[in-house]
Amino acid sequence: MQQKIRIAPSILASDFAKLGEEVRAVSEAGADYIHVDVMDGHFVPNITIGPDVVKALRPHSRLPFDVHLMIAPADPYIEAFAQAGADIITVHPEAGPHVHRSVQLIKSLGKKAGISINPGTPLSAVKPLLDEVDLILVMSVNPGFGGQKFIPEAKQRLGHLREMIDRSERSIDLEVDGGINFETAPEAIAAGADVLVAGTATFKGGPTAYAANIARLRGQR
Ligand code: DX5
Ligand code: ZN
Repeated sequence: MQQKIRIAPSILASDFAKLGEEVRAVSEAGADYIHVDVMDGHFVPNITIGPDVVKALRPHSRLPFDVHLMIAPADPYIEAFAQAGADIITVHPEAGPHVHRSVQLIKSLGKKAGISINPGTPLSAVKPLLDEVDLILVMSVNPGFGGQKFIPEAKQRLGHLREMIDRSERSIDLEVDGGINFETAPEAIAAGADVLVAGTATFKGGPTAYAANIARLRGQR
């Protein structure tokens, strides 16, 4: 069942010189998760942050940290992110070598596990993991950068995954990531998403705009 809509600001679009303040500001402005994009310059063509930054940010918010690993391999770093304070850890099947093992590792550390599928990844990659995962992250852009345009095909993919999740009768978040703004958010929700990652659209306008941006993304006005 589609759950209450939750907004996960991607701190990739925040002011990196004030990361702690930014995390606090979106937490106070009504965000539900803090989405942390971890990139290695190898799995994706950009480099961002590591476990030490997650650890430094942890005291600045009580919200779940939704850590999106765009790194390969991911397994050697999963424990460090768990210890740093991640609550949900999401991996891509292409990060290899055995995605089911990565998911088991995340669960064994007492964290929620997510699986992320790129625009070119077949939905069938999710099926064998349906009994294990807590979150499915549908990329609606190719991973690597904020501020890209939503790929409309993601809507069909969300629809198919919504059916798959509902049939499983498990409580699994269906999260969409990339190009979510005031126009695409309602479309993603209608297609079945219940967690919206939004970087550019949350942080636009600076701290005084965050509460209104988050409310509007959620469909509250
Ligand atoms: C892309 C990241 C996204 C990105 C979203 O690789 O996974 O989380 O920051 O940024 P916006 O919302 O600006 O498209
Ligand atoms: Zn992300």
